[in-house]
Amino acid sequence: MRAAIALCVVLLAASASAYGPETNYVIHCQGCHLADGAETPGKVPGLADQVARFLGTPDGRAYLGRVPGVANAPLSDAELATLLNWTLRRFDAAHVPSDFAPYGAEEIGALRRDPLVDVTRERTRILEAAH
Ligand code: HEC
Repeated sequence: MRAAIALCVVLLAASASAYGPETNYVIHCQGCHLADGAETPGKVPGLADQVARFLGTPDGRAYLGRVPGVANAPLSDAELATLLNWTLRRFDAAHVPSDFAPYGAEEIGALRRDPLVDVTRERTRILEAAH
């Protein structure tokens, strides 16, 4: 009985500390990407009206899970997958392909453990291939 109560307390504490994607965006992303996903020229690329364009190629899809701000967020793989899927629809629904398969925890886990070495070069290469 005592063990059962202790388990309930642990489970309650765990669920209370887990936020949904809107809140996780505010906590972990908004400081750089702003509330509306706007660009900070020369520093942070805009998410608004462009981020989902990366979904057009397999490397681009992988890039979104490997880019440092995403890969290094202190969130579980499942929370991060939910946050990234939310980010794509929140800021660039128009460019999400109709057959888009949402990121899952396993995919995100594999991508974030394969970090980009030269982010700028990889980003440029992907955007050139997409055009
Ligand atoms: C410290 C600032 C910072 C934080 C915090 C941050 N990012 Fe970023 N993000 C960037 C920069 C700068 C880039 C451009 C690639 C690079 O140089 O890392 C980027 C690129 C991206 C991209 C790819 C878009 C592109 O055009 O390259 C996505 C998607 C993204 N961030 C989402 C997120 C999400 C989601 C979070 C929160 C979990 C987050 N970022 C947190 C600065 C940040």
